[in-house]
Amino acid sequence: MRDTPDALVLLDWYDVHARKMPWRVMPGEKQAGVRPDPYHVWLSEIMLQQTTVAAVKDYFIKFVSTWPTVAELAAADDADVMAAWAGLGYYARARNLLKCARVVASDHDGTFPDTVAELQKLPGIGPYTSAAIASIAFDRQATVVDGNVERVMSRLFAIETPLPTSKPELTERAEELTPSSRQGDYNQAVMDLGATICTPKSPACGICPWRDPCIARAQGVAAELPKKLPKKVKPTRHGIAYVARRTDGAWLLETRPEKGLLGGMLGWPGSEWGDAPQPNPPLVAEWRDTGVEVRHTFTHFHLKLRIMVSWAETEPVSGRFIPHREFKPASLPTVMRKVYDVASPQLSLN
Ligand code: ADE
Repeated sequence: MRDTPDALVLLDWYDVHARKMPWRVMPGEKQAGVRPDPYHVWLSEIMLQQTTVAAVKDYFIKFVSTWPTVAELAAADDADVMAAWAGLGYYARARNLLKCARVVASDHDGTFPDTVAELQKLPGIGPYTSAAIASIAFDRQATVVDGNVERVMSRLFAIETPLPTSKPELTERAEELTPSSRQGDYNQAVMDLGATICTPKSPACGICPWRDPCIARAQGVAAELPKKLPKKVKPTRHGIAYVARRTDGAWLLETRPEKGLLGGMLGWPGSEWGDAPQPNPPLVAEWRDTGVEVRHTFTHFHLKLRIMVSWAETEPVSGRFIPHREFKPASLPTVMRKVYDVASPQLSLN
């Protein structure tokens, strides 16, 4: 199929307006012969799932400076990788990241496969990520569809069907527009357009490279699209977190089970999270209720955590003491970090 004039107009726009990102090879650099590093593309795309570019940048830089190649990441300790991921959320991504790095290192000689089909066989790589890597790293014919792309397509073609029902139609439209060369730049251009001009609330239609072909703009309904089916209300769960410290400074922590929420991450011992949590302190002590409830929202529920603190003088029934100098609060997932911020002033050594 011939490339549409619209696709070429967008590529021209991207040549001038592409956002600089630490993992991105800019259009000018590509023309000079620089090839994107598939490891960088993969790592950034995993990090960018459900996470903003601004939040990802520093994590990406830290990862590639600590582990410059996929083989080095594959050889890393699980705990170090989980700690480096702390704060990014959706921790299953980090567990799959390590699994994937190890498969690429052991079964593919440390080289990422270059087709959508082969990429999708790897842990943690689904339709979105395979399309992103195949197109951005290898300029394969593949179309990336994320929230930005859905919004841009729903406006360009004035699709009134609400999301997620409209997903297949939006995907089809996006695929039809994808050119037969520079697929990586094209996909990134649509995402950049969605992030900078075709924004959710007040799209800057006046400066949009697609203002002429955009049907929603012509109809004056761009800001109202895409329509969305109402979201389910999130339930609230309750829990208790126990923060214990010894007088030598050590903190009582546990590594959470691999399966389940925050799997593989460091955290404070605690109750189950549910309607009426049962107290289950990790050691015998005089536990004090801080009276503070930490709140955190996960994908499917809100959490309210009561925080109990105590000085520890007995052996724990669960968890392990980590010496103060080895404990880095930054290696905690965000909800556990919030707990630390409340509890630590109450267990201060001086
Ligand atoms: N969001 C996710 N991946 C992206 C990319 N490669 N460029 C711009 N925005 C993105």
